[in-house]
Amino acid sequence: METANKNTQKTTVLVTGGAGYIGSHTCVALLEQGYDIVVVDNFVNSSPISLERVCQITGQTFPWYHADLRNRTQLDEIFTKHHIDWVIHFAALKAVGESVAQPLRYYENNINGTLSLLAVMAKHECKKIVFSSSATVYGDPEQLPLTEDCALRTTNPYGATKLMIENILRDICHADQSWTAVILRYFNPVGAHPSGLIGENPQGIPNNLTPYIAQVLTGKLPYLQVFGDDYPTADGTGVRDYIHVCDLAQGHLQAIAKVQQSGVFTYNLGTGRGYSVLDVLHAFERASNRKIPYQIKPRRAGDIAECYADPRRAEQDLAWQAQYDLDAMARDLWRFYTQNPQGYTK
Ligand code: NAD
Ligand code: WQD
Repeated sequence: METANKNTQKTTVLVTGGAGYIGSHTCVALLEQGYDIVVVDNFVNSSPISLERVCQITGQTFPWYHADLRNRTQLDEIFTKHHIDWVIHFAALKAVGESVAQPLRYYENNINGTLSLLAVMAKHECKKIVFSSSATVYGDPEQLPLTEDCALRTTNPYGATKLMIENILRDICHADQSWTAVILRYFNPVGAHPSGLIGENPQGIPNNLTPYIAQVLTGKLPYLQVFGDDYPTADGTGVRDYIHVCDLAQGHLQAIAKVQQSGVFTYNLGTGRGYSVLDVLHAFERASNRKIPYQIKPRRAGDIAECYADPRRAEQDLAWQAQYDLDAMARDLWRFYTQNPQGYTK
């Protein structure tokens, strides 16, 4: 893959949610490739320690603000203090089940946070944004692999916030042709930075497959529950397009480097390859050299059988392609858990 050119003109990128899982990996990539960054996070689902680790990995420091995106006064101050060229907008609540139980909280945080951000950006004439969308906007896939032109439909409040924000961005770009919005639809992000210093740090019992497996491996949970073995897939378990978080991070840099025009640009970020729950389990067994106990359970409500991307548009337009395979994802996540058994502690 041709990586984005080293940023010689010192573009400054505001990273919302930069202390989070994908945000922290993107901060590392931005700093390593010569960008200046400013981070805003309210730490509702993260820790400032991840930002210290970003400094440790890169040997660089950067300004960060403990601020909520819904606080326009604080955001305005940040945009007054720093000249921001691009915003990468990660900040959101992201747990599907929680969004079903607490829809108002999700709409309030994700939609109002974004509206506040966009209003302050417009005020400061900063009109370039990369937005973290999700394959969840495709709902139950009408065809596989999923192309960006597939029908959009959501099945839970979290997914609805992603689709609403996509629509808001499309409307803004239509109304004011000086805006640029790059919508990146992530498939299933997994793994961690190869240093083992940053990774996913979920609080409580994880909902997603790979942090759950990691907690079984560290003895915090007794066994993996495999949700369904009667799907129409090769081994009967659900199939997803898992993508290494460092590949995902690089996708954002390619977007900033390659998208020069105004308008809306939408890209799938996935590998184009599907793996089953049991494939993932076996990859973690290889990475850790341990057996992982599991039990087959009924299907999880709302789950789809199979989902994987057609990533060719991102390959063509952004010169981006995933580099890491499933074994690397398992190896790097396992290293993070081994080095940080209690999550982010000093
Ligand atoms: P994360 O929870 O680790 O990071 C999100 C960050 O945003 C956290 O640090 C949180 O504290 C912060 N935040 C939330 N609301 C905020 C607010 N109002 N003001 C300021 N900060 C706020 O999640 P992640 O996995 O890094 O996901 C990043 C983005 O990617 C999210 O928008 C998520 O919806 C999207 N996404 C994630 C996945 C996934 O599986 N991880 C898949 C597709 C899309
Ligand atoms: C993957 C596979 C499960 C846990 C979710 C969101 C999506 C996106 C990414 C943000 C499925 C199976 C899981 C377990 C299991 N997030 N599984 N036992 O559901 O594809 O996507 O996260 O945008 O919106 O819906 O990811 O990791 O939860 O599940 O068997 O304990 O693992 O049934 O087949 P999912 P996941």
